[in-house]
Amino acid sequence: MAAPRLALLALLAATACAVSPVDDLLWWQTSVIYQIYPRSFKDSDGDGVGDIKGITSKLWYVKNLGVGAIWLSPIYKSPMVDMGYDISDFYDIDPLFGTMDDFKELLEEAHNMDLKVVMDFVVSYTSDQVPWFNKSVHREDGFDDWYVWARGERNESAEHGYNYPSNWLSAFNGPGWEWNDVRQEFYFHSFTKEQPDLNYRSQGVIDEMDRVLKFWFDLGVDGFRVDAVPQMAEDACFRNEEPAGNDLPPYDYEYLTHKYTQHQPETYATIKHWRELTDQYDNPPRVLMLETYGPIDEVVDYYGTTEHPGGHFPFNFYFITELKNTSSAQDLDRIVHKWMDNIKAIDWPNWVLGNHDQRRVATRFGPQLADAMNMLSLLLPGTAITFMGEELAMEDHLGITWEETQDPWAINAGPDEYMVYSRDPERTPFQWDNTVSAGFSTNPKTWLPVNPNYEWLNAENQLHLRITHVLVYQNLVRLRQLDAFRRGSLTTAVVGDVFAFSRVYGDEAYVVAINLGGTKETVDLSALSPLPNLVVSVSSINSFAQYATFPADAVVLQPYGALALRSYDTTS
Ligand code: GLC
Ligand code: MG
Repeated sequence: MAAPRLALLALLAATACAVSPVDDLLWWQTSVIYQIYPRSFKDSDGDGVGDIKGITSKLWYVKNLGVGAIWLSPIYKSPMVDMGYDISDFYDIDPLFGTMDDFKELLEEAHNMDLKVVMDFVVSYTSDQVPWFNKSVHREDGFDDWYVWARGERNESAEHGYNYPSNWLSAFNGPGWEWNDVRQEFYFHSFTKEQPDLNYRSQGVIDEMDRVLKFWFDLGVDGFRVDAVPQMAEDACFRNEEPAGNDLPPYDYEYLTHKYTQHQPETYATIKHWRELTDQYDNPPRVLMLETYGPIDEVVDYYGTTEHPGGHFPFNFYFITELKNTSSAQDLDRIVHKWMDNIKAIDWPNWVLGNHDQRRVATRFGPQLADAMNMLSLLLPGTAITFMGEELAMEDHLGITWEETQDPWAINAGPDEYMVYSRDPERTPFQWDNTVSAGFSTNPKTWLPVNPNYEWLNAENQLHLRITHVLVYQNLVRLRQLDAFRRGSLTTAVVGDVFAFSRVYGDEAYVVAINLGGTKETVDLSALSPLPNLVVSVSSINSFAQYATFPADAVVLQPYGALALRSYDTTS
């Protein structure tokens, strides 16, 4: 689905191309999906860890943002080696977060408020504490092939008498193979050794994960974010991976290419199978969104085809993996087109700015671009996904000490290097107000320390002051309900440091302009605006331009300023 791009602004007319032929849009197409990291949203019982009742007590806040759905990172039973991404019971809630009744209450209250609830579906691996793993270790009938078991060649001098089956690495660095003494074989783990990978060539595994999906759908869950999709299946012949040709140490995951441990045919097939199962639930329709880092061709293939659809959308992570604070307007344009020009007309786009695995937006780009980034994700065509706190421009807590460190990836790296890998800085508690522990918990000691900037950077402050990030966010969420943003065409343009795009549907036309540079710019956006004037609908807080009007050929943008403007004619 190619979106037109205007190279020279002055004389070119924009060709309108409808972004989607879909007429009746579904909830997951029109909603903003708000990611809640349950450990850090709100603690109801004072143990310093966020929980389900805490989330329920704050649904009013989520609703007030205007978003239509929440996605919860895992709350299932877990030994918490990887913060709940290591599940030991796929059918129950971990006591740290509450009970099944607490969850049912959350679901009911959310639905009463017309908020959808999406859960995490962790499919690539389980905890080593799940009973299935032990059964597989003991080769119990039916469980023999549930995990990826193998032995390399016999080697008397190797620690366990056998070589590794391959050179595959764990994404958290170091060998991806772990020896099991009972079974006398290695098992493969894409992440920590306490997370053995499931084998998607086993029908037993597929049947069991189908049951998991149905269990939660039957309970009324509105969809899933499918975790670590690329790593679901591995090459059946355990072929070695080639070095990527960089200067990283050989134990670093990125030292190797991942031809044989990512994006395997079985993975695409299983996703399509789950889509079929998901489509059996149509009242209300459910969603499958996929965690898919990788090269564009592999990623967009997860959409599947008209006959065999895959996920409703694979996450578009290119604003995370390709956009830097040094990127130019040209780069931004390229990244937007990278997605739009590589998906098919029927594929629904999406924009992810951050999550619990990535540095926060205000830390990556600087707080001055926080509104601009929200404007991009919320006003480009498709679904926007917001990580909790990005509406406030929360920042990473980079002062977390080694002793305070929780993330297994960071712990794996040791005290000298932990900050290179640590995801704790973006996972610190949500900053509600300026009371003890930022209003997150009554306990002054929380599972991760609160970012000390909570005293001024908090939700209460921003909801009560007049010009704040959260108000900009709310205005953008409201604006995106218009047809121009839901269904309108997209045309982009670059003028110096300014990246701009139009969204047009019938008579409704908007222009969005973002100044990536540190100097004030006056730009000609007339080629994007069907009518001669533009009036500001939403302004970033550093622009002070609410309701300002401009001739379309002379729009003033403050340094790092961002504006969403409506095209209009003074004479009409
Ligand atoms: C997913 C999660 C991440 C976790 C990883 C391994 O990528 O988003 O938080 O560490 O899986 O479990
Ligand atoms: Mg708690």
